[in-house]
Amino acid sequence: MAYENILVETRGRVALITLNRPKALNALSSGLFVDLNAALDSFEADENIGCIVLTGSEKAFAAGADIKEMQPYTSVTAYLTDLITPWERVSRNRKPIIAAVAGYALGGGCELAMMCDFIIAADTAKFGQPEINLGVMPGAGGTQRLTRFVGKSKAMDMCLTGRMMDAAEAERSGLVSRIVPADELVDTAMDVAAKIADMSLPAVMMIKESVDRAYETTMSEGVRFERRVFHSLFATEDQSEGMQAFIDKRSPNFRNR
Ligand code: HXC
Repeated sequence: MAYENILVETRGRVALITLNRPKALNALSSGLFVDLNAALDSFEADENIGCIVLTGSEKAFAAGADIKEMQPYTSVTAYLTDLITPWERVSRNRKPIIAAVAGYALGGGCELAMMCDFIIAADTAKFGQPEINLGVMPGAGGTQRLTRFVGKSKAMDMCLTGRMMDAAEAERSGLVSRIVPADELVDTAMDVAAKIADMSLPAVMMIKESVDRAYETTMSEGVRFERRVFHSLFATEDQSEGMQAFIDKRSPNFRNR
């Protein structure tokens, strides 16, 4: 399917979604979210897809919410149009999404990357929550997710001053999982995604669900949830096959992938 604001392609069991508003540095407009959410709906439903990579351009993953679209808003139109709710679709995707970030990931762009399951950064990546410069504040989870990623001190520093964090600082702070040279970013993210997509999909999805629980509940409830889903994986053919393959010293042939 052709979209106006994104490009999509599949390679094996991996879907690649590329934000594609180059003239606006991939500013996140409401139309872009219509496209992005439709693509996520279709890839989530597609049994041949096991993992998704979300990326932007060399210059910008996304330079934030579309300021030109938002500028005329009043608090009433923001409320009545339910501004931001469509953004949450990314964080509810049941299959893993890797953000592959090069260049600017600012404001809503940083928030969008943080809604993904983990971030692989190019050495050119720059993260920031510059909304303060516009007389507003992060509104798509930035004050909450950034604080969980990097801790209070750095989150306050970034949100209150609007300063950017480069890739090295982002990796040191736990915001990104790894840094790669910019020209290898998408290929590396696709390789990582292919590795995940080659695993047993129920195990992949239950791991994602369990790690996400760590942010939403107490340690004891999270551990209890983990144990229940761990037990349930013994009902899958892939558990039996994965363990037998280890014993046989061969690669597993998972059914559910
Ligand atoms: C709309 C944007 C944009 C944005 C850039 N552009 N960011 N348009 N919304 N967020 C447009 C510019 O207007 C310009 O269009 C073109 O993209 C190129 O941008 P330049 O500024 O000329 O590029 P450069 O000098 O290289 O500077 C890059 C930049 C700067 C540092 C990233 O563009 C910038 O500061 N952008 C805004 C970043 C920001 O404040 N993000 C937070 C937004 S609020 P023209 O037509 O002039 O060529 C937000 C809130 C989220 O995200 C909360 C949930 C809704």
